[in-house]
Amino acid sequence: MDGIQELKARYLAEIAAAGDETTIEAVRVAAVGKKGEVSLKMRELGKMTPEERKTAGPMLNALKDEINSAIAARKAALADAALEERLRSEWLDVTQPARPVVQGSVHPISQVTEEIIAIFADLGYAVAEGPQIENDFYNFDALNIPPEHPARQEFDTFYMHRAEGDNRPPNVLRTHTSPVQIRHMEKHGVPCRIIAPGRVYRSDYDQTHTPMFHQVEGLAIDKDISMANLKWTLEEFCRAFFEVDNVELKFRASHFPFTEPSAEVDIRCSWDNGQLKIGEGDDWMEILGSGMVHPKVLEAAGVDPKEYQGFAFGMGIDRLAMLKYGIPDLRAFFDSDLRWLRHYGFAALDVPTIHGGISR
Ligand code: PHE
Repeated sequence: MDGIQELKARYLAEIAAAGDETTIEAVRVAAVGKKGEVSLKMRELGKMTPEERKTAGPMLNALKDEINSAIAARKAALADAALEERLRSEWLDVTQPARPVVQGSVHPISQVTEEIIAIFADLGYAVAEGPQIENDFYNFDALNIPPEHPARQEFDTFYMHRAEGDNRPPNVLRTHTSPVQIRHMEKHGVPCRIIAPGRVYRSDYDQTHTPMFHQVEGLAIDKDISMANLKWTLEEFCRAFFEVDNVELKFRASHFPFTEPSAEVDIRCSWDNGQLKIGEGDDWMEILGSGMVHPKVLEAAGVDPKEYQGFAFGMGIDRLAMLKYGIPDLRAFFDSDLRWLRHYGFAALDVPTIHGGISR
């Protein structure tokens, strides 16, 4: 039959050249679709003589089969190629090291705060908190510092702004954590044993002072608490905190309006070559103020001073961190210098214990 070889050559070439499914489908329709060239030829079989039909029929059927299988083969080849391409482009080298995970570190202040909380928790102290913006009453009056008291000046207080015409005394950025004593006793009563760590503010700036720093307040009130308990507690704390047996503390008679008697506590240390060490050397660094809570303070907090008494202390957390980890300049604590943070920061798993200290 005329043209069958030509048809076959043309369609097989087109199929071989088809680069995607749509092109193949177009070729299929043009060749063996209902109105395709091969199908039309098959329709002509009816007009042929039986002899002609005998040869042309099988030839056309064979051609149709050949085209169909060429299409199927081409489709399979294209699918294979697509899969190959995907496997090539989406290939993943599972032996590659993982991408580095950028890890932060725990700031020495956070670390030391946790250590302090852990040690005092072992001694039976709960953690209390108060606001950083305080009012006049809690920061001063209730702590036996009336408006004309000179101690108000000593604190280098930051005052908040009041609206014009508002004559109430201004709120302050708390100058110490002592107001938490009052807030706690007011709310929860006595007996009590608490520490209150947090930020405090004073207008002061040099190697060992920053306008914002951290204190931890301690308060223990009951019927028979004495100065001896205070001394034991602080010594016990320092031994556990510094992990040194020969920690040496000096209780220096002092004065605070909210304690009577009062003592400031210095710790023996050395500053050789900018290296800070505790328990040795000839320097003394003041780390805390303390004393027996003044009866007027108990009264202000609604506690009967004839029945209850106890001690309070306020420690500088930043100072403790400098001493324990040999950090010579306080100002660097708050510069957010990544090199400093990487050097002095702690891994999240460095958990403190009263017995073992920390693992670095
Ligand atoms: N509040 C005092 C200060 O900031 C410290 C202190 C606390 C002293 C409790 C005695 C008792 O200096």
